[in-house]
This record gives sequence, C-alpha cells and structure tokens, in this order.
Amino acid sequence: MNLFDVYPLNDVTIVKAKGSYVWDDQGNQYLDLYGGHAVISIGHTHPHWVKRIEEQLEKIAFYSNSIRIPLQQELAKKLGEVSGKEDYQLFLCNSGAEANENALKLASFYNGRKKIIAFNKAFHGRTSLAVAATDNKNIVAPVNETDNVVFLPFNDEEALEAYFDKHGKDVSSVILEGIQGVGGINVASESFLKLIRALCTKYGALYIADSVQCGYGRSGKFFSHDFAGVNADIYTMAKGMGNGFPVAGIIIAPHIQPKHFQLGTTFGGNHLACAAALAVLEVIREEKLMGNAVMVGKYLREELATMPEIKNVRGRGLMIGFDVSEELGPLKKNLLTNHKIFTGEAKPNVIRLLPSLALKKKDAEEFIEAIKEEIAALHAAV
Ligand SMILES: Cc1ncc(COP(=O)(O)O)c(C=O)c1O
Repeated sequence: MNLFDVYPLNDVTIVKAKGSYVWDDQGNQYLDLYGGHAVISIGHTHPHWVKRIEEQLEKIAFYSNSIRIPLQQELAKKLGEVSGKEDYQLFLCNSGAEANENALKLASFYNGRKKIIAFNKAFHGRTSLAVAATDNKNIVAPVNETDNVVFLPFNDEEALEAYFDKHGKDVSSVILEGIQGVGGINVASESFLKLIRALCTKYGALYIADSVQCGYGRSGKFFSHDFAGVNADIYTMAKGMGNGFPVAGIIIAPHIQPKHFQLGTTFGGNHLACAAALAVLEVIREEKLMGNAVMVGKYLREELATMPEIKNVRGRGLMIGFDVSEELGPLKKNLLTNHKIFTGEAKPNVIRLLPSLALKKKDAEEFIEAIKEEIAALHAAV
C-alpha cells in the first residue's frame, strides 16, 4: 500500500529530537524554528513530559468518557491557573479543527443561530464547519460549502460594524485567530478585538478565539487575544497543548451551560493525553516559558528589523513572520540545506518562525548569523 500523497515533502528523515534540535538519519543536526508547525511548545522530548507520559502509560493509557477521569479535572484546574481563565469550563478533544468545530457548534446550540463571521486569510481547520470558515477555496469541498459563513476583511472595524448593523440578530459567532498563522502572521489589532467583544455582547453572538496556533503562551501571553484585555466566550486550543501528543480542547465561559450529549468524543481527554497536557503546563509555568518567548522573540524581531532586505517583521513572542523579496526566494530552502535550520512559510513570500517557547538566545543568534550569511550569498549571486 502507498501513502495518499497530499504533502510535498522536505527530503529529510528525522529520527531524534531534543529541545530546539532534531537529527536526521544521517546524523545531521538541525535547529528547529518551525516546531512541526507550532506544535513543539516546551521543547522536543522534554524530560518531564517524557516521564509524565511514561509513568501514565504504565498505569492506564485510555478509557472512554463514560467513567471519571480525575486527570481531566487536574488539567482543567491547572489550565485555569496558567491561563488566568479559572471560571471557564474545559471540553477536551483531539485536534485544532475538532476544537473549532465544537466551538462553532456550541455557539449555534447556545443562541439558536446559524451565521458565522470569519475573516479574510483565516485558517480554522479541515473539517466541515472549520473548513467552511477557512478562507481558502482550494480546500473547501463542494459538500462543505455553506451560506452560513461570511468573510469580512481582517482588522476592518467599519466593515464589521456595518455587518452587525444589518445582520446582527442572525450572527451566531465571530471566529478569529488573535494572530493569523497560515495566513502569514497577521496580528489582530487590540481595538478590533475589543470591538468584536462589544458587538458580540450587544447582539448576543459568541466570540470564539481560535488559539490553536497563537495560543498556549506562544505570543508571550497565554492567549494572544489577551493583549486586548477582553475575554472571549470560547477559546480553542491544540498545537502547543501536548507538545506533539495529540490533544486539543475548548474552554467555555461560565454563562454557557453544558447539556448532556450535546458535545462528545471517544478519544478526547484520555489519560495519556491529559498526562502530556499536564506536563506541558507544568513546564510552561516552572521554566517561565512565556517570559522567555517575550525575551527571545523581541531579540529576533529587533535583529530581523535591521536587515533592509527583509520587510514587515511582525508578530508577537515566538510567533514571527516577515516578507522576503523575489530575489530572496530560495532563502527558506537555503537555510535548511546550507545551515540546517528549519523555518516555516506562508504563501507567497512569508517566512514564519514558530520555535519552541524554550528557544535559547544563543540559538536565536545562530539563526540571525545564518540568515545574514544567506542573504549576502543570494545578493552576490544576482
Ligand atoms: C489557527 C488554526 N486553527 C485550526 C487549525 C487546525 O488544527 P488541526 O490541524 O490540529 O486540525 C490550525 C492548523 O494549522 C490553525 O493554525
């Protein structure tokens, strides 16, 4: 049997990983500033995370949600403490798309409405409603097409107000990333987030903060939406939550009441997933990783901003993007081939940095030296 070929691959086979580094089957060491797409939050194979999972595996890995799982309660408590949303309620699932799917559905159950406002360049996942709220026609199958989702321009307060003015009573939810990831690292303005909060409150719609990529401390705050100083009704989370162990969740404001059987999952919240997620929160807190993300992220953005060839350095914490000119087109590939550094991208010309929140300053310096060298080499070649 062959694999269903849906991904263009880098010709690298990674066999080992530690902290911000990975190694291929030839023994080459790579600096990982991509984190397997923003997933590695506390560093690859962190010893506390490995120990927690191993110990749990020896006890019990899985049982369904038909019994008490105290680890879920422990996770909810710790997540409340670390995120500051102690009065929210946790529902656990397995992936980012599933988290958004549940959030959108819960909002519709809550207010009985159908209209969803999403924004240009949004990415919310590949399942039915999540993909319908994703601004990429190429990944929306005909069966997922719906008139229930409307796309408005990102950060456009007038357009948002005008839409609510006309259709506010039909709006079930507004979903957005605090920092768009796949869309190219676009930061939602604080006033835009405040306006979303105000309009949702006024019209009885729910504010869904997709924090799948920009959450879990990556921005330097637990949720990037926190920069606006307002609370969303539902936060969705996934990538950094398990540091590579598949676990996701939504946290739900106290005014939204649960009903039996409205939401559900077989695998969500299993023992092993909870152990992994607990380990991540413990390390984020113990090692003050949000502070590290602020400090190392600032250094990277400041250094990048001094390079005239690089434009529009943006982002927060360790979620950073910048534009590269056509002349620097091979930059990402050359960083990998010549310097053994993984970075991310966003089409057509954005490089994204999504490293572990434990990235060390010396590793960031290594990257800055490498990118300077590579830009000079590309210049010399034209
Ligand atoms: C902001 C955002 N939401 C949702 C998703 C979907 O997550 P998953 O691939 O775990 O379903 C992604 C994945 O890249 C994402 O970046």
